[in-house]
Amino acid sequence: MEVRKVGVVGLGAMGAGIAQLCVEAGIDTVGREVTADLGEQARDRIGHFLTRKTEKGQLEQSVRDDAMNRLSLTTELDAFADCDVVIEAIVEELEPKRQLFAELERICRPDAVLATNTSALSVTEIAAATSSPGRVVGMHFFNPAPLMPLVEIVRAELTEDEPFETAFALGERIGKTPIRCHDTPGFVVNRVLIPLLNDCIRVLDEARVSPEDLDTGMKNGAGWPMGPCALVDLVGIDVHVHASEALYEKTREQRMAPPARLVAMRNAGLLGRKSGRGFYTYD
Ligand SMILES: NC(=O)c1ccc[n+]([C@@H]2O[C@H](COP(=O)([O-])OP(=O)(O)OC[C@H]3O[C@@H](n4cnc5c(N)ncnc54)[C@H](O)[C@@H]3O)[C@@H](O)[C@H]2O)c1
Repeated sequence: MEVRKVGVVGLGAMGAGIAQLCVEAGIDTVGREVTADLGEQARDRIGHFLTRKTEKGQLEQSVRDDAMNRLSLTTELDAFADCDVVIEAIVEELEPKRQLFAELERICRPDAVLATNTSALSVTEIAAATSSPGRVVGMHFFNPAPLMPLVEIVRAELTEDEPFETAFALGERIGKTPIRCHDTPGFVVNRVLIPLLNDCIRVLDEARVSPEDLDTGMKNGAGWPMGPCALVDLVGIDVHVHASEALYEKTREQRMAPPARLVAMRNAGLLGRKSGRGFYTYD
């Protein structure tokens, strides 16, 4: 299917980035937030990001302005009636997502593809809230979506080929590098990365190595571009703990469970970069 219009539900950290990618790729995009004010804040963030690109000479002013003109905002789901693809990026909780997909099924065209950006929930369980699960697919972007190249295109139990390939092609069209996978806990990258980062944090206590030395070790001994402590700080300690808990709940594998040290940091409000303090201190 040729995608002419995309809907994005939830314009938070991920949704705003996804909407930005779509308008930059020349696709008319409608974004829905719960209040008009939150929608406007997202529009401002997207505008600011694109302005910085023009200032750096990466984007022509007229291209920026055209992109911004392709973005419309709504608080009503009815605005998705003529969308070819709708990408959901609301809170990471199953029930709100299931409710939303049931509503989207009622409002959207029967051939519209319904995609979820969930990180750790089951795409199959979200799809099961609809009577047309064949058109439900995962499109798992990485944070920040405009900068991280990967998108995992996730095939749920009943996803049909055409919607799956439409999502894959859309991922390519908006400049990402898509990979195909099936709906298993953590999909591909988080299934590998989350237990690996948890191992790293446990090693802090076991080997009594400092965060600085652990990061130096993994960068210089394993060729990582960034040390694990710096990476967890960047992701957000609360986000990482939440993802670990979700994966542990599904797999019951001990390595998935968040290390006690991270849970304590999260409880103390040491959330990494966004709170100014995690393993490191930020200005
Ligand atoms: N942040 C990450 O690193 C990351 C990475 C990949 C995937 N994800 C996934 O993306 C999704 C969104 O995450 P986020 O970090 O952008 O969250 P966020 O809290 O920044 O944004 C969620 C937004 O959705 C809005 N919202 C909630 N219910 C809504 C509804 N019914 N309709 C419209 N808007 C609604 C909220 O007002 C909020 O602005 C989650 O499923 C998350 O697991 C997050």
